Parts: sequence; C-alpha cells; structure tokens
Amino acid sequence: MSMTKIILTGDRPTGRLHVGHYVGSLKRRVELQNSGDFDEIYIMIADAQALTDNMDNPEKIRQNIIEVALDYLACGLDPQKSVMFIQSQIPELCEMSFYYMNLVTVARLKRNPTVKTEIQMRNFEERIPVGFFTYPISQAADITAFKATTVPVGEDQAPMIEQTREIVHRFNYVYGETLVEPNILLPDNAACMRLPGTDGKAKMSKSLGNCIYLSDTEEEIHKKIMSMYTDPTHLRVEDPGHVEGNPVFIYLDAFSTDEHFSKYLPEYKNLDELKAHYTRGGLGDVKVKRFLNNVLQEVLRPIRERRAEFAKDIPAVYKMLQEGSIIARKKASATLEEMKQAMKINYFDDKDLIESQSQKFGQNN
Ligand code: TRP
Repeated sequence: MSMTKIILTGDRPTGRLHVGHYVGSLKRRVELQNSGDFDEIYIMIADAQALTDNMDNPEKIRQNIIEVALDYLACGLDPQKSVMFIQSQIPELCEMSFYYMNLVTVARLKRNPTVKTEIQMRNFEERIPVGFFTYPISQAADITAFKATTVPVGEDQAPMIEQTREIVHRFNYVYGETLVEPNILLPDNAACMRLPGTDGKAKMSKSLGNCIYLSDTEEEIHKKIMSMYTDPTHLRVEDPGHVEGNPVFIYLDAFSTDEHFSKYLPEYKNLDELKAHYTRGGLGDVKVKRFLNNVLQEVLRPIRERRAEFAKDIPAVYKMLQEGSIIARKKASATLEEMKQAMKINYFDDKDLIESQSQKFGQNN
C-alpha cells in the first residue's frame, strides 16, 4: 500500500456552521491543510445526504450550500490546497453505494448508535426513509471514493467510520485489495468533542436557537453569551459553583488560552485558577461570561470579516465549488473503475473476457 495521505470530510448543508462545527472539525481541517502533511484534501458539502431527511425541503439545502462554502472559506480553507465540492455532483458515489449495499446487513445498520438517536430525534418511528436508514453506506462511498486515509470529524461520526472500515474489509476480502481503510481523527480536546448549546442542552440545533454561528454579529454573540445557561445552584456570587457540565466553562475549555487571560482577565493566570475561584465561591457568572465574550469575539471577528469579504463575490464561490466538483469527480471515477475491475463488471474493457467467450462459442478471429 502506498503512503499517500488523503483527507476527506464534509458537512450537511442544513444551516450555517456554528462554533460546535468550528472546534469539532473546521479548525482542525485548516491546521491539517496548512501542515503540508497531506497529499490530497477533499471537503464535501453533503447535499445528497442532507436530502435523506429533508427530501421535502430541497430549497433549504440549496440555500445553505453557499452559506457552508462561505463558512469554509472564512475559516481558512483554501481552494488552492483543499478541493471543496458538492456531493450530488459526483454520480459515481451513488454507483458505489449501490454495490456497498450488498456488503451490509439490515441488522448491522440498525445497530448504528448515531442513526438510532437521529431516528428518535426525528420521530420517524416506522416511517424511516430507506435513504436515511442507509446513509452510513453512502457515507462509506464518500470516504472510499477518494481513498481517504484520514477523516477528521466529531465523535458522533465514529460509527460511520467504523461502518466504512467494515465495508472496506469486506470489499477487499471478496473482490481483492482495492479500497483504503480510513482512520478517524477526533478533536484532541475533550471540550471540543461535543460543545453543548448555549442553553446547556447536549445538542446544538437551529430549531432550539441555542447555537452561536460563525457568521453571527458582535451583538448577537454578546447577547447569546450573556444569556447562557450556567450552574443553576450558583445563585449568589458567594455560593460555590460547579464548573463540570457548565456550558460557560465548557466553552472556555474549548476556546480560551493563557494569552486570553493576560489580555482580558489578568487577575488569573489561567483557566484552572478561574475554575478554582468559581468552585470556591465568590466569583459571579457575569464576570466569567464577559471574559468568554472577549475570547469568542477575538476568535470569531477575523472569521466574520473574511466571510464578508468572500460574500462580495458569490459567483466566484460557485465557480470554486464547480471546479472542485470536477476535480473530485475525476478522482471518484478512477476509484470506481478500479472497483468495477475488481468486481468483474468491466465487460467491455476486458479483452480476455471477449476472447475467452469467443473461444467458448467456437469462433476464432
Ligand atoms: N454525516 C456528516 C455530518 O452529518 C456529513 C458527511 C457526509 C461526512 N459524508 C461524509 C463527514 C464523509 C465525513 C466524511 O456531519
């Protein structure tokens, strides 16, 4: 096997991207992109996957493609280094999924914990669209089409990578060594694994209104932070507080650095000192929130400003995606050719087949 290192990852375009996407995956992607350690990087806007549970709302998906692309560019993904493309423009992915479906059982799909939770959240009960139920298979196509070695994602995506590895094993076992087994790359900081909503709920979601978006204005960010859920037992400043499970401190875990302390809150050297004071009692929530606001404003300001710059030329953003989709399609198509050869469904390219069939039927030409 070659030592080529390839990244593939992506997002469903169901809304603008938020700070959870940023710490869970986007920030890492940009670092990996700029590390120069990777030979190829593919970043996919998963519109086809988004349609598996939004089939009645294609306009929503359509509107959000450009939002997600702007979020990518704003965070520092660079089309010179990373191929950004749209999933539905790569029909080879459907073809691959069709063959992978033969390698996966219904029982195996039913065990996928992420899909299980998503089915409950959407109240599908018995009316689960088949496309939604099988999206882990299509996700395996997304990953393997590019021969990705590395998939930087949040921990909720771990079952998809696991499923992909199983499909790769099975394909290679049955048809011969063709596909590459991917590895998941999780965030290195526990707080970044799953940033809670500003209301303390485990999941950030647009419908709950508990997300801070990368494109939020300074005022929106300030308002969301000042009304953030904290420790409900911390009623008076003197009361001892809890930092565990407290969204304000989880956000600080994810975003604050020692430099932020020397700049905005020099009475404390670092987050450990701030946490110790809060736990002891005598530290008010407003003071901590003001600090978090300073930190987040500093992190998000350059992203918002770059986003506004890119938004000045929307046709150029579509063009970037179109060019990316052409490059991505070439790669996927090459992999599909190899797969078809391995699966012996490349009839017309196989001179030996035509020759041997001719012999069988007694022709000699
Ligand atoms: N399921 C991912 C999400 O909801 C999006 C996605 C689709 C993806 N295909 C992928 C992520 C392939 C990584 C690799 O965020």
